[in-house]
Amino acid sequence: MDHGAGCVMTDVDGNDYLDFYNNMSATVHGHCHPALLAAAAEQIGKSSALGTPVEVQARHAAVVCERVPSIEKVRYCNSGTEATMLTIRAARAFTGRDVIVKIDGGYHGLHDDAQINMFTGLTDPTYPQEGLPESFPPAQPARGVPKARMREVMLLPYNDLAAARELLALHAERIAALIVEPMMGAAGGIPGDVAYLRGLRELTTAHDVLLIFDECATFRMGPLQRRYDITPDLTSLSKIIGGGFPLGAFGGREDIMAQFDPTRPGHVYHAGAFGGNNMSLAVGLAALNTYGPAEVEQLNAKGERLIRDLPEAARRAGVRLRMTGIGSLMHLHWGHGPINNPQDALARRAGLAELPELFHLALLNRGIYTARRGLFALSTPMTDHHIETFIDAVHDVLLELGPYISTHIPHLLVENAGH
Ligand SMILES: Cc1ncc(COP(=O)(O)O)c(C=O)c1O
Repeated sequence: MDHGAGCVMTDVDGNDYLDFYNNMSATVHGHCHPALLAAAAEQIGKSSALGTPVEVQARHAAVVCERVPSIEKVRYCNSGTEATMLTIRAARAFTGRDVIVKIDGGYHGLHDDAQINMFTGLTDPTYPQEGLPESFPPAQPARGVPKARMREVMLLPYNDLAAARELLALHAERIAALIVEPMMGAAGGIPGDVAYLRGLRELTTAHDVLLIFDECATFRMGPLQRRYDITPDLTSLSKIIGGGFPLGAFGGREDIMAQFDPTRPGHVYHAGAFGGNNMSLAVGLAALNTYGPAEVEQLNAKGERLIRDLPEAARRAGVRLRMTGIGSLMHLHWGHGPINNPQDALARRAGLAELPELFHLALLNRGIYTARRGLFALSTPMTDHHIETFIDAVHDVLLELGPYISTHIPHLLVENAGH
């Protein structure tokens, strides 16, 4: 790609693409939004990073605390990876316990704990479990991550409150925190059942285990904790809060965050040359100020339409697919049947021959850019017309791929599904 403007990206040959990727959902205003350009131009003339406390940080923090009621105090870093790493560190320091519980298939960035059992399915389910904490499902190594890290991570299946109840009853005294996405993003746009998420809150409170919501991806839809009225102890944020510049944030209960106060003896260390730099905060603040509750709802409504209408367009082309997601962030799954956890999503990716690649290429040929794995994110410059263009393109692509699907993956055909 060469450049972007609004919801369109243009490649080096001059071809335009509607951008349904939005930098892994991180750019909610698409590209070159005038308010963000103005903020960037103003800030670069005043220094990109002064490395001191700055007013724009307090202003950004005020918006974050207002929109995420569980965040009483917030700190800034560069990415979602750092934000989740630091919530986990805060929880370990506060509780004096080492084990964290994460969801099997959950993605929280690149640090060692987060890489264990993440969404790709590249790990080895037959890995011997001797010496590892009992958890359901079993821990699996990630390449390049020391095996010893697996001793401090326990796994739970998503949307399964009974399993969480059992694990915490057995091991709560060793567990610092449970980290969970209220909707699993990278793993397949899988919403957490609201009763499940509320149940996790009750359960962790009862067992004196901290609850971390990773809202790096879901902040754009609400955040979801606000929509569901759930108050986690800690929250991680990134992506849209930087307005297209790198920015992460984490925050939560005042007493937990107070551990980072450098004037306290034995504080938890947190610093970084570019964490919360002026540039990211200034452009991020402009992004948040132009994406208030009304804009969030408008964009979510467009997304809900896509989630509803895309499977119907596919059905008209003779192909079964399912959309999961909430509002402006969603995922396409081939075939039918429930998608309650990342394992369901992975199973639906098996046996598709080259369909995902062909689908992706055929959409590119029609001027639509998506994540190859089927994750779609909307941006505010999109109109109903862009949504319709996308739906029509999917319909036409599936008609075009019909013969391939009949030959290689006939179970995806509506006629074979009996509908
Ligand atoms: C839920 C979640 N947490 C953490 C991250 C990591 O963020 P970053 O890529 O900024 O390190 C991501 C990124 O995809 C994410 O979706």
